[in-house]
This record gives sequence, C-alpha cells and structure tokens, in this order.
Amino acid sequence: MKIIIVGGAGTIGNKVTADLEKDHEVIKVGRTSGDIQADITQPESIEVMFKTIGSFDALVSISGTGHFGPLKTMTAADFQVGLQSKLLGQVNLVLIGQHYINPKGSFTLTSGILSEDPVFGSANLAAVNAALNSFAMAAALELENDVRINVVSPGVVEDSPELFGAFPGHMPVSMPVVVNAYRKSVLGVVNGQVIKAF
Ligand SMILES: NC(=O)c1ccc[n+]([C@@H]2O[C@H](COP(=O)([O-])OP(=O)(O)OC[C@H]3O[C@@H](n4cnc5c(N)ncnc54)[C@H](OP(=O)(O)O)[C@@H]3O)[C@@H](O)[C@H]2O)c1
Repeated sequence: MKIIIVGGAGTIGNKVTADLEKDHEVIKVGRTSGDIQADITQPESIEVMFKTIGSFDALVSISGTGHFGPLKTMTAADFQVGLQSKLLGQVNLVLIGQHYINPKGSFTLTSGILSEDPVFGSANLAAVNAALNSFAMAAALELENDVRINVVSPGVVEDSPELFGAFPGHMPVSMPVVVNAYRKSVLGVVNGQVIKAF
C-alpha cells in the first residue's frame, strides 16, 4: 500500500512509521520534517501535497496542535489554535483527500483521551478531540468507493514523559498498544470507529 503519514516524524508518528514501512511504501509529511512538507492549517498547502503525491491507499494523520492552559485566562484566540490546527487541519485532510484516495482506501485521524477524561487546562483539546470523533463517525456514512475512516484516541503515551505531570493518575500507554491501534484502522476492516488506545 502507498501510505501517507502526516506527522510521521513526531513522537507517536515515528513509531507508527517504523511499523508500517516494514511492509508498505510510506510517505512522511510534516510542516518542517518528513519527505514532503505541508502545513495542514493551510488548505492550499494540503492541495499541493496531494497533487505532488498523487493517488494513495491510506492517509494517517498524527498531527495538529491545540491550546493547553487554564480556562480562567483562555481567550477566543487561544481556543482557535486547536480549531484551526488539530481539528480543521485534520478535517481538511479528509475533505480534500477524498478526491485523491484510491477506492477501498482509508483515513485515520488522531484525537485523544481528553474528550472523555479531561485534565486541568484541557478544555480546548477536549472539545477538539470530541469533534474529531464525531466527524469520523458521520463522514464514514458518506465516503464513497468503500473508503473507510477511523480515529485513534490515545491516552498519554510512554514516549511523552514531559506530559505526565499534566495527567495525574493517568497510566501512560505503551507504544506497541498505540501502534496497534493505527494498524487496526489501516490494515483492518473497521469503519467509523473511535479506536481507543488507553
Ligand atoms: N503524545 C501524546 O501523549 C498524545 C496523546 C494523545 C493524543 N496525542 C495527539 O497525537 C498527535 C501527535 O502527538 P505527538 O505527541 O506525536 O506530537 P509531536 O511529537 O509534536 O509531533 C507532531 C507531528 O505533527 C506534525 N505537525 C504538527 N502541526 C502540523 C501542521 N500544521 N502541518 C503539518 N504537520 C504538522 C509535526 O511536524 P513538524 O515537526 O515538521 O512541524 C510532527 O511531525 C497530536 O494531535 C496530539 O494531540 C498525543
């Protein structure tokens, strides 16, 4: 399969890439890293990326950022960070990518545990994650040519120790558990699912 991994050089992305590239052609995309550079917050940049790559069998997005900070000082501009990057960036990969993906292909997006188990300072990312989960469930009903879509929702991962302090009482998820969630979406048959890795 020809698989695009947006965020393929990131903390989670590099483990998913190492796993999938054993048996598949993987093209890594990042803002500054990867084989091809694209900014998912810019629709024109996404369009150029797909035109450069051409048709593909699977797109995995493990990218996008959000605002993390106290509600008391959160501004509309802070909240926009998650909406424009992690939410709309990943949604646009699907809205534009549906016109380039091969029949029977798949999209896999990334949300996270905060939608159902929030911590202090997570209002933006919790809302963004919930929206991504709902988007995938609804989009799965309409994607044509047997194209599938799922979301992987990881807990805080063992390779992100800098986050542990913000997630008191959360058990870090081992990387093989997270990698297998992406394998289930890309190589399996599930569709419209939120695949929990926690
Ligand atoms: N780490 C965790 O414990 C955890 C848990 C649950 C959910 N998540 C979610 O998983 C995703 C990845 O997390 P991570 O910890 O692996 O992040 P990371 O190490 O910061 O990696 C993020 C990757 O995404 C790319 N990226 C970011 N913004 C982009 C943009 N606008 N356009 C194109 N590429 C972009 C980065 O590329 P460049 O470096 O080239 O910019 C990088 O390759 C995030 O959505 C995060 O919220 C993470």
